[in-house]
Amino acid sequence: MNLKRMYLDYFKSLGHVEIPSAPIVPENDPSVLFNTAGMQPLIPYLMGEEHPYGKRLCDSQKCVRLTDLESIGDKTHHTFFEMLGNWSLGDYFKNESILYSFNFLTKVLNIPIERLAITVFEGDDKIPRDLVSAKRWEELGIPKERIAYLGREDNFWIAGESGPCGGDTEIFYFRSDDEIPTLFDPKDERWVEIWNNVFMEYYQDKDGSVRELKNKNVDTGMGLERTIAILEGKTDNYLTSIWANLLKTLEEITNLSYEGHEKSFRIIMDHIRTAVFIAADPAGIKPSNTDQGYILRRLIRRAIRHARKLNIDISSNWEEKLASVIILEYQDSYHELRDNKDIVLEVLANEKIKFNRTLERGLKEFDKVAKNLKSIDGDTAFHLYDTYGFPIELTEEMASELNLTVDIEGFHKRFSEHQEKSRTASIGKFKGGLSGNGIIETKYHTATHLLNAALKIVVGSDVHQKGSNITEERLRFDFSCDHKLSDEEKKKVEEIVNNWIQEDLPVKKISMAKDEAIKSGAECMFIDKYPDIVTVYQIGDVSKELCGGPHVNSTKELGKFKIIKEEASSSGVRRIKAILE
Ligand code: ALA
Repeated sequence: MNLKRMYLDYFKSLGHVEIPSAPIVPENDPSVLFNTAGMQPLIPYLMGEEHPYGKRLCDSQKCVRLTDLESIGDKTHHTFFEMLGNWSLGDYFKNESILYSFNFLTKVLNIPIERLAITVFEGDDKIPRDLVSAKRWEELGIPKERIAYLGREDNFWIAGESGPCGGDTEIFYFRSDDEIPTLFDPKDERWVEIWNNVFMEYYQDKDGSVRELKNKNVDTGMGLERTIAILEGKTDNYLTSIWANLLKTLEEITNLSYEGHEKSFRIIMDHIRTAVFIAADPAGIKPSNTDQGYILRRLIRRAIRHARKLNIDISSNWEEKLASVIILEYQDSYHELRDNKDIVLEVLANEKIKFNRTLERGLKEFDKVAKNLKSIDGDTAFHLYDTYGFPIELTEEMASELNLTVDIEGFHKRFSEHQEKSRTASIGKFKGGLSGNGIIETKYHTATHLLNAALKIVVGSDVHQKGSNITEERLRFDFSCDHKLSDEEKKKVEEIVNNWIQEDLPVKKISMAKDEAIKSGAECMFIDKYPDIVTVYQIGDVSKELCGGPHVNSTKELGKFKIIKEEASSSGVRRIKAILE
């Protein structure tokens, strides 16, 4: 059964446009490391911006959730998953949304209505009880006893602390051969949630205050792996058709059967799959010690440790075999896997080689310490990290297998002392999220677009951006050009940019299909890096560029533009550093 296809075709038949999955690494939202829900790339449209493909959309979004990282190894958790979603952007609302979900489940998937139960938002001091949804479910034949009212904890949905949000109604399936109880108890684990329909009509600010959005939207999410497990009658997600080929390959590599080695099998399969998707993402993530790169590193290294537990010869090409199965299975839905196959295999192999160099010695060191200590102190954990490349979470996992604790605080203290030099690498990032773009950086973003446009006038239309970097102190812009700029050229560029600033040109943000943007002549650096729907920033009629932003609203905000340096960057590429005064 191809649930993904059935789902998308069903919603297309109801007037929805199928949009491609956005990349896993969000392009315009530095506050999260990965997209964790189908709605995340659609936030501007949920906030009221017009979507180029209309008011009814559906897709299968690649998601990575790290909250469950520690749980991987059990039957139901995954770090990567595909979320099926359908959206109404100010079009239909509760009644149609519930009808569409109900019909898909009972008429397309033929799930008996007796196996379904529903939760709805019970209301609180800010948002009223959702009687409309409850009534609708009853009209469709769900008995009152199978509808439970729950509060904010369960039936209110928001990504993070602030953003578009609203009460939701969740659909549960009775996954057991036991007799189905008449009264639905949401705490009874035989009932599993399969679909969440969020009625996004509010915006919540960081201070908790709530206001109404321009539109009443619907945002739904159905976890593909969980629903397939239900339809295939499995309680272990890893035993569904989704994993069958990978599991078989891993059995062949290890000469072991899944049964009896479930935990390590699941960790390896889950982590390699997620690593493949992260490494294939257009963002070009490589294993590192910060942000997404660190997550990639953690996943690969943890998979390697479990591979070793299964007696896999780490230096053999086991990871390539597994990654190739994943690429083959997913490449038709997600072309970047095919396009970036070589990169993915290289990332995995390089990280493996790197970790393998220190792994044995690190494990010996760990055993030695573990024998003598009741708890792993911060210095030792840091030594394992710094010298042997053991992510702290790996040390924690190894320690907990021996019933030892790790002084995490001590580790972090040592870590931050060590990282004092590069503040951006602070551990806090993995927990909270990155800091936002400041006002000054925003100004530099806009100034960079003006500089690019001015260079085209002064130097020639074959000037193209080759790189850009912005700090609070300055902008840096690399561009194709075969000669050192003369003083006159530099002066001219400054003049043009400053004139534009004086003219107080409006900065407009427009969303459009990528092809259309390119056709309209919008400037862009790496065309493949962009999703099918892009954001274009237009400044008066002097500049039009694909860009994630953020930007100022009008050029007057920029102050005075000044070039402070012009130098060679590499062959055929010049570099300008400029400031705003
Ligand atoms: N955004 C909702 C979720 O992720 C649908 O559950």
